[in-house]
Amino acid sequence: MTWEKRPVSAEGAPDVADVRAARKVFIKSYGCQMNVYDSQRMADTLAPQGYVETQNAAEADVLILNTCHIREKAAEKVYSELGRVRKLKDAAEQDGRRMVVAVAGCVAQAEGEEILKRARTVDLVVGPQSYHRLPDMLRQVARGERPVDTEFPVEDKFDVLANPTRHATRARGVAAFVTVQEGCDKFCTFCVVPYTRGAEISRPAAKIIAETERLADAGVREVTLIGQNVNAYHGLGPDGRDWTLARLLYRLAEIPGIARLRYTTSHPRDMAADLIAAHGDLPALMPQLHLPVQSGSDSILAAMNRKHTRADYLAVIDRLRAARPELALSSDFIVGFPGETERDLRDTLELVETVGYASAFSFKYSARPGTPAAEMDDQVPESEKEARLAILQAAIERNRQAFNTGCLGTTFDILFERPGRHPGQLVGRSPYLQAVQVQAPSTRIGELASVTITEVGSNSLFGSLAHPAAEDGARLSPAMAMGA
Ligand code: 5AD
Ligand code: SF4
Repeated sequence: MTWEKRPVSAEGAPDVADVRAARKVFIKSYGCQMNVYDSQRMADTLAPQGYVETQNAAEADVLILNTCHIREKAAEKVYSELGRVRKLKDAAEQDGRRMVVAVAGCVAQAEGEEILKRARTVDLVVGPQSYHRLPDMLRQVARGERPVDTEFPVEDKFDVLANPTRHATRARGVAAFVTVQEGCDKFCTFCVVPYTRGAEISRPAAKIIAETERLADAGVREVTLIGQNVNAYHGLGPDGRDWTLARLLYRLAEIPGIARLRYTTSHPRDMAADLIAAHGDLPALMPQLHLPVQSGSDSILAAMNRKHTRADYLAVIDRLRAARPELALSSDFIVGFPGETERDLRDTLELVETVGYASAFSFKYSARPGTPAAEMDDQVPESEKEARLAILQAAIERNRQAFNTGCLGTTFDILFERPGRHPGQLVGRSPYLQAVQVQAPSTRIGELASVTITEVGSNSLFGSLAHPAAEDGARLSPAMAMGA
């Protein structure tokens, strides 16, 4: 069936009975967890229009690239991906189908109209704050327009977005993300986020509570609250006051069925006392925290406008560990920031050893157009960045292996998420976010089980059920969930 032949109603909306059977949307997500969440919400918003998600790009009626602009030649990568998409679009056309191609996310925000000029294959461009307008924009495309929306609209997109069906939520698994905060006012000199995602805003607590209740009702057991600067959360509470992230976490922990809470990504400056205390008080708050430091050198931290020193960062970690001694930490690091010397790198390596990270991401500095650091003198040559990255990654890897090896023989709760690589195996997450492979029946997906770690692999841990017989067939009850 061709796009053109589909019956169209007076408003230009395709006939629902017809499209329910036929329309498919393929969404490719790049970058951070917020993009994964946004992609899901785009799918939810298109579902009432009769679109079902497909994993096969070739059969899509609507193909969306949800792009990331944080590092490297992000825009160039999108343009080369669009070259491949054009072939799919041409093949669809030869089959008598129209494929609508949309560019969403932070590259869409940064490039806007330019994308339409450079890539004839693109039908619409939608920024991260406007994707609730997708159904309208698709109608514009059906009328022969090529709409661009990169506004920061006054309306709250979350008020307009459709909620996922219970079925869609279940299909996404037992661990889910919920956006609680977006944007950033910190303006680190290397970072595009304040420009692409805009000023910091927090969603009202009541909406987050309602969304989490819906997730729990559909079987979700673990919720990760996400935001570019999540611990700066200060949303309107149901009592009319501003709620902190800690306050929100205590409330979400009361929701029956929610066994585990996490939040990411945090800024060291916003690790407030009540949030640190929550790590000691709240069993549902997992003992794992992503707390990016970016560099271990004070002069680089100052040039990055991080607004904290190395000592500030270490002091926060001391307080966190006093509240929750087994807390596992992860971080982001940038090497080769303008002016970084070998001495600065040594400071970073020393910090890695001092903290003892369970894992960490590390990146070569990449000059982002429009950011202050891109204009700084003393840009570090690419070859030097590569050499430094290799040294840092080796140190991080040693830390990670040491942390994992330390788990050998210990027993902790695993939340089973999905089938494993081998028959009879399930993959679950440890409290510290490690993937753990366990022999267990697939009926146990969605359960928390006590697992003893028996082997440490390169990418995951292996474990066995601590009480296989007693727990056999046991379902996670809300009571167990709260006490986990
Ligand atoms: N170059 C390299 N890495 C960057 N990040 C953000 N901007 C840049 C950049 N210009 C990294 C930071 C951040 C993570 C999400 O991406 O480490 O914490
Ligand atoms: Fe970017 Fe994070 Fe800095 Fe905000 S706090 S500018 S998101 S690195």
